[in-house]
Amino acid sequence: MNQDELKALVGQAALQYVVPGQIVGVGTGSTVNKFIEALASMKNQIKGAVSSSEASTARLKALGIPVFDSNEVAELAVYIDGADEINGQGHMVKGGGAALTREKIVAAQSKVFVCIADESKLVSVLGAFPLPVEVIPMSSARITAQFANMGGQAHVRMKDGNPLVTDNGQHILDVNGLHIHDPVAFEAEVSQWPGVVTVGVFAHQKAQVCLLGTSEGVKTLKF
Ligand code: 5RP
Repeated sequence: MNQDELKALVGQAALQYVVPGQIVGVGTGSTVNKFIEALASMKNQIKGAVSSSEASTARLKALGIPVFDSNEVAELAVYIDGADEINGQGHMVKGGGAALTREKIVAAQSKVFVCIADESKLVSVLGAFPLPVEVIPMSSARITAQFANMGGQAHVRMKDGNPLVTDNGQHILDVNGLHIHDPVAFEAEVSQWPGVVTVGVFAHQKAQVCLLGTSEGVKTLKF
């Protein structure tokens, strides 16, 4: 099976975690796009979704799935999202699709985070994937210097020759060269640097379940 087929497999498998009659939290990315396609088959059984990006919102609405503002919903039973990396404890690196801030917000309002990923995303130490960090633009240089002190090389993410602007109007730094051995401590430390909106380490909002697409089928990891 190729990577696209593995993504479709876990997108379909995630339907078993969707609670009928409720609102489901929906992440962002190519794996989640497969989940959204599968969710259309259940659209008459759910109230709707809280979405983590403008891109997912557009896809959900195009399929006739109502999208609620996160402020309208006190708690979600489940949040389904992909990851750029996940370790054996359910800690993740996310933000490859620049949606990390809203993803962390929706994850925080959800009881269970179900990560859907192909097996290439499972790692022993986070950091080989360049770590996305959403920042207030005027703080980029200072935060870049702070990462350099940790051995990381940060670069502003570009799109069409200009800094990419997130759904929240901010910029993304992608940081290479990190080896994140203690994701909980790392997330806590970087989150309090002035100008950091969201760091793409999801350790406090970790996954409780990972549906991993492998050539032998879907493996369920629980953390
Ligand atoms: C978007 C994300 C995605 O979940 C992550 O980048 C994985 O994406 P994909 O399913 O396309 O590999 O964090 O901000």
